[in-house]
Amino acid sequence: MFSTKAPVRQNFYLALKYFLVLYSSMMQHFTSANDVKDLPGLLGMALDMKKNPARYQTALQGKTLGMLFFNPSLRTRMSTEKAALNMSMNIISLDADRGWNLEFEDGVVMDGAKAEHVKEAAAVMSQYCDVLGVRSFATLTDREKDYQDYVIQKFRRHASVPVISLEGAILHPLQSLTDWITIETYKQKTAPKVVLSWAPHPRALPQAVPNSFLEWMGKTNYELVVTHPAGYELNERFTKGVRIEYDQRKAFEGADFIYAKNWSNYEDYGKVLNTDASWMVDAEKMALTNRAKFMHCLPVRRNQIVADEVLDGQDSIVIPQAGNRVWAAMAALQLVLS
Ligand code: CP
Repeated sequence: MFSTKAPVRQNFYLALKYFLVLYSSMMQHFTSANDVKDLPGLLGMALDMKKNPARYQTALQGKTLGMLFFNPSLRTRMSTEKAALNMSMNIISLDADRGWNLEFEDGVVMDGAKAEHVKEAAAVMSQYCDVLGVRSFATLTDREKDYQDYVIQKFRRHASVPVISLEGAILHPLQSLTDWITIETYKQKTAPKVVLSWAPHPRALPQAVPNSFLEWMGKTNYELVVTHPAGYELNERFTKGVRIEYDQRKAFEGADFIYAKNWSNYEDYGKVLNTDASWMVDAEKMALTNRAKFMHCLPVRRNQIVADEVLDGQDSIVIPQAGNRVWAAMAALQLVLS
């Protein structure tokens, strides 16, 4: 028998689906600088949180932060937990790297090792938490997938609460907001010269920190320079308009901040093609700068990336820089939950 109810029901579900897609796209996430409409406002809030933490003591009382770690963390985990505690939040953490094998592909026959799809997992966790933080590093084997920030984007799509990146495949926004707070705290002039310098490392590292640093610093009025060996160019999406200087010493001249970081090759994706020790940051190179502050996101390999004399020196600010992770996380939580 012909029924008029089926098309009505179909239209209802279609409308519901579009509403959920629209709602999800309108939600305030924190996975890139481009998620934030008012970047100076966010920086101002973070600096105010640093100055007046007591003012925010109950700002997010009763809210629950869920954190999923597909990769390990010291700073991001502890600082984000501390930030949530500072604002009276509850915290649930899941070490997703310990045998929690999630399927991310759509339309697959799940007859392998993966027992749960991100669609259910994200939807279920959204019922327990008001915000989800996700850490998932680059594969360093599949550039196309990595540069979609695949895992973070899947959570954005399937969660019904805001998503905060705790470092994705290509971006680390909490680190970059931290770096901005740190530079603003230490700068002696309105537009300091900030140099991002590649440095050698024995293992293949992702490009998330340098990409993200350039993304965020590119939105400031700082004089931004990136220096690396030829062949270590980052994705143009992040270096567009940024001065690239292949002579590290020349790049360091007159710099106010040196930010050292290793990254693996972008063109020959994920490979370590250069371990040239002469790119390590040492006192002789720092002497070329305008008494620059030395920064690194940590963890850092001593006497590979940077010489002890610099890391332990008076101009190293890596410890207060890591301390600023708390204010960045507080600002991000307040942003997505307010
Ligand atoms: N800088 C940073 O993200 O440190 P962790 O890997 O320890 O979180």
